[in-house]
Amino acid sequence: MSIPRRHFDALIIGAGGAGLNAARRLAGADLRVAVVSKVFPTRSHTVAAQGGVNAALANVLPDNWHWHMFDTVKGSDYLGDQDAIEYMCREAIPTVYELEHAGVPFSRLDSGKIYQRAFGGQSQDFGGDQAVRTCAAADRTGHAMLHALYQQNLRARTHFFDEFFAIDLLRDDEGCILGALVLEIETGEPLIIESKTTLIATGGYGQVYRTTTNAYINTGDGMAMALRAGVPLQDMEFFQFHPTGVAGKGILITEGARGEGGYLINARGERFMERYAPRALDLASRDVVSRAIATEVREGRGCGEEADHVLLKLDHLGRDVVGRRLPGISDICRTFLGLDPAEQPIPIFPTAHYAMGGIPTDRFGRVVAPAGHGPEEIVPGLYAAGECACVSVHGANRLGGNSLLDILVFGRAAGTDMLQFLKENPNHRPLPEAAVDKAASRLARWDRKGEGESVAKVKAELRKLMEDHCSVFRTREVMAEGVEKLKALRERIEGVRLKDHSRVFNTARIEALELDNLMDVGMATLCSALYREESRGAHSRIDFPKRNDADWMKHSLYQREGDRMDYKPVRTKPLTVESFPPKERVY
Ligand code: FUM
Repeated sequence: MSIPRRHFDALIIGAGGAGLNAARRLAGADLRVAVVSKVFPTRSHTVAAQGGVNAALANVLPDNWHWHMFDTVKGSDYLGDQDAIEYMCREAIPTVYELEHAGVPFSRLDSGKIYQRAFGGQSQDFGGDQAVRTCAAADRTGHAMLHALYQQNLRARTHFFDEFFAIDLLRDDEGCILGALVLEIETGEPLIIESKTTLIATGGYGQVYRTTTNAYINTGDGMAMALRAGVPLQDMEFFQFHPTGVAGKGILITEGARGEGGYLINARGERFMERYAPRALDLASRDVVSRAIATEVREGRGCGEEADHVLLKLDHLGRDVVGRRLPGISDICRTFLGLDPAEQPIPIFPTAHYAMGGIPTDRFGRVVAPAGHGPEEIVPGLYAAGECACVSVHGANRLGGNSLLDILVFGRAAGTDMLQFLKENPNHRPLPEAAVDKAASRLARWDRKGEGESVAKVKAELRKLMEDHCSVFRTREVMAEGVEKLKALRERIEGVRLKDHSRVFNTARIEALELDNLMDVGMATLCSALYREESRGAHSRIDFPKRNDADWMKHSLYQREGDRMDYKPVRTKPLTVESFPPKERVY
């Protein structure tokens, strides 16, 4: 098949905050940059981020990046790499000012400085009183950022391929990444984008769970592409459940609601967080609060007819605070629940929110992977940033407000390193036909009608399976059963029904490709969780309830071939300061 080709210096797959922050750096240096996005860029999932971005600006209370670093290491349950964490927390401050100058309309304090609110797991002076570190644009911070970054890219003349779906990376025999095969969703026609360097910035895969804050687009496309290119996925057992999703619907109610003074109660009206986190209460780390809510419900203290949720109270804050600081969640409550949060509490239950794991990178965004069973090597020309990557700054549990920070800091770091890569590698490498054929064969799998069951039915089964077998609390027996069920489900994808023979706007074909990706990342999650026999951060094993630093202070690496697990050490040495040694984690 003869497929048209376009040539660019850099290819960015994904138009969320990480992709756009890298792209503007490259395009600003007059390079030819292509951004491929399966949705219009300002519909990328960054738009849904509510509460804010962490930076120790000290606009409200004393703060510094070193305290931020301590909180992040502790929040990660000591699995985060301390060199990358130091880098992120130091860079947070100039990054937020850079965004302010790029046009992000942050909310303001009376002093005129950027508004900051308290978020979970934040402390002053290495574990002391609550810090106030999250910079916010009301409760629509991601929306404000994404639009500013998109506009900056338009100004820099980034070339956007809107509503194009990435099928697979193009890779030569030496393992160099030479671009990607993509598909124009409207016409159904494939296109080869040859690039000298490629960044995967495709976000997370929350759609693998039935109840999630994640958009329909979050199907782990980039992670699955990396797996198919022979790159393992790191720390996939650590999937964050956000404590405050709207019960039964999963829609995000920002942690900022608790940062503004909201709190949780059970059916007896008790502030139950007093029992689980006596100091930090409702602003303990997310894994702690989610487990507390799940425990209250399991032990019969849930609210409502089914006793299946708890309540988030905001009514004591007053209409002015709720309206001014939390307008987005007020809209959500009115639209989806028919209630006014300034008057009534919100029914809440934990909801799948964020992947701590992903494509392994160093702090420059370069993808690092073991070659076969050998030592780690940089994959030439390939970068990853944002939720699809694991750098790893979040370790076993991410702090709220550190995800917008991660995408900005490491998106920019990747863009900067790609500039250097392009200086050293100014020419396109020849693209072997075999590489194109391999990527095209993935597309050919779905170039048929199929008479079987619908994609939606198989996807619904996958999401239920993941919820039943790999949720907040886990055991070997339940997860092993999940792995077997998923193996059987994977086979069924071959027979799913596509809409028709036509390629034009055949969304069923796109959904089948996404489901194929979800199956791969779902298996990576289940296998990684099954083999980690300890409880750490978001990975909570009923059969191994304690953290076990002696045996498990290491990163996991899942390889698609043979569902194999490997492990590698945590980088405990920061760049310029002393390490934070592991301690018992109490809030
Ligand atoms: O609660 C929130 O606003 C979510 C923030 C985050 O995940 O960082």
